[in-house]
Amino acid sequence: CGHVSQIIFLKKTEVRHNLSSWIFYFCAMANTEDFFKKVIAHSKEYGYIFASSEIYDGLSAVYDYAQNGVELKKNIREYWWRSMVYMNQNIVGLDSAILMHPKIWKASGHVDAFNDPLIDNKDSKKRYRADVLVEDYAEKIEQKAQKEIAKAKKRFGDSFDQAQFEATNDRVLRYREEKQGILDRLARSLEAEDLADVKALIESLGIADPDSGSKNWTDVRQFNLMFGTKLGASADTATDLYLRPETAQGIFVNFLNVQKTGRMKIPFGIAQTGKAFRNEIVARQFIFRMREFEQMEMQFFVRPGEEMRWYDYWKQTRLKWHLSLGLGEENYRFHDHEKLAHYANAASDIEFNFPFGFKELEGIHSRTDFDLKQHEAFSGKKLQFFDPELNESYVPYVVETSIGLDRMFLAVLSHSLKEEVLEDGSQRTVLKLPFILAPTKAAILPLIKKDGLPELAKTIVAQLQWNFNVIYDEKDAVGRRYRRQDAAGTPYCITVDHQSLEDQTVTLRNRDTMDQIRVSIATLGEHMQESIAYQHWLS
Ligand code: GAP
Repeated sequence: CGHVSQIIFLKKTEVRHNLSSWIFYFCAMANTEDFFKKVIAHSKEYGYIFASSEIYDGLSAVYDYAQNGVELKKNIREYWWRSMVYMNQNIVGLDSAILMHPKIWKASGHVDAFNDPLIDNKDSKKRYRADVLVEDYAEKIEQKAQKEIAKAKKRFGDSFDQAQFEATNDRVLRYREEKQGILDRLARSLEAEDLADVKALIESLGIADPDSGSKNWTDVRQFNLMFGTKLGASADTATDLYLRPETAQGIFVNFLNVQKTGRMKIPFGIAQTGKAFRNEIVARQFIFRMREFEQMEMQFFVRPGEEMRWYDYWKQTRLKWHLSLGLGEENYRFHDHEKLAHYANAASDIEFNFPFGFKELEGIHSRTDFDLKQHEAFSGKKLQFFDPELNESYVPYVVETSIGLDRMFLAVLSHSLKEEVLEDGSQRTVLKLPFILAPTKAAILPLIKKDGLPELAKTIVAQLQWNFNVIYDEKDAVGRRYRRQDAAGTPYCITVDHQSLEDQTVTLRNRDTMDQIRVSIATLGEHMQESIAYQHWLS
């Protein structure tokens, strides 16, 4: 249902005691800002994310993953890793070090070009990315066009031809032209490093500080995003290093090692997950933009000239991976880049509909042979592949897929958080995480704390914990325990009652439908496995 404020849909489903009933789902959140606040508060309350160094008032844009968060993050990483490494015979994994030779960052272009244009507001003292201010302004114009389209859709119903409307409607065309003019000018100024023109553009559009409304801006300056550190004991002999701003370079510099030791033939890929660090200018959107974050990247090495085919293939394959989690097709869109990074000949983002709108979740980049050639030049070592079919050596071209694990976490978490009003008027907060990603798969609940029920429940824990992350909970009335597990995102509640003692059966309650079925203790694992098998989700 996303994060809007009206009733979204009705669903006929079974409820407890097999009574058929209508359940009304709706989003009680007043607006997207409130909803985002709710996501942040919920992730703390239910042990997903804490601010880093919280007892010292936190560290800006750095976060810790708590007991549930670390499991969800691990499960997302595993979901990605399996789809990349286990499901592709020609992709292997790597775990390269965070600290790397400093020449790598000169070769990759990060020392000279990994900059963001920043601008300060003199009144509020707030700092912004100048390009983002302009892009947000352009997005507002696009939203006006979208409103026109939505109105027309409503007016014309089934007979509405959206493509024709977008191509001919005066207002939509005007909005789109205005938006494109702004983005083109921004791209030209950034390309030419004309920062004065970026400021002039902000002023001519009348862009105000979103926080204070002030238009009193400083000049625009470039700011390098890499964190520096030192290697060595004494100040005079220490070497200046950088914390890696992307994991990709660790793959490039190991390209030949992996190819030779793994006897890999082109096309092949190397996948890696790991921490990356960026001294972001603006880091205000919780875990969307962090200073320490984790990436899941895959570099796919191909024959020169074949990169566009593989680029299209990986765009579609990655979108399919996202859709497999069931967060709603309408919540994804591609954004093909017009302004390309220095290393790319094509690039596209998969954007997700976050609580604050569509934003980049993953990048797919055709990186040409830029990185490998640069490392050949800077290291003096050949990084070429001998292609037996062509009987020639060449520097491969590279198609990269790069997704932020924390961003994916935010996409999953924010989409899953729902407020529901049930037919009897009671409310529940439920975290409808895809079952495969849920931190805890089942909570085992003795109906009461006596009569041997806790003992039996604990034997079920002991049986299931070999294959599933499960927890035991006996505190409070069972209804409250269900609500607690719903809010924490646990897919199943297994309740042990007096009948269980007699016939070795329990009730298995599904978090989303609230259906309860009676199953034998011996078959619990099978029932759960059905809905959380990788094959079920990834195929
Ligand atoms: N190797 C290519 C690369 O790093 P990128 O577009 O700069 O490309 C890839 O980053 C992905 O990493 C982004 O799509 C985003 O999901 C994630 N990411 C980038 N900066 C981030 C940050 N400061 N905080 C959280 N995730 C970030």
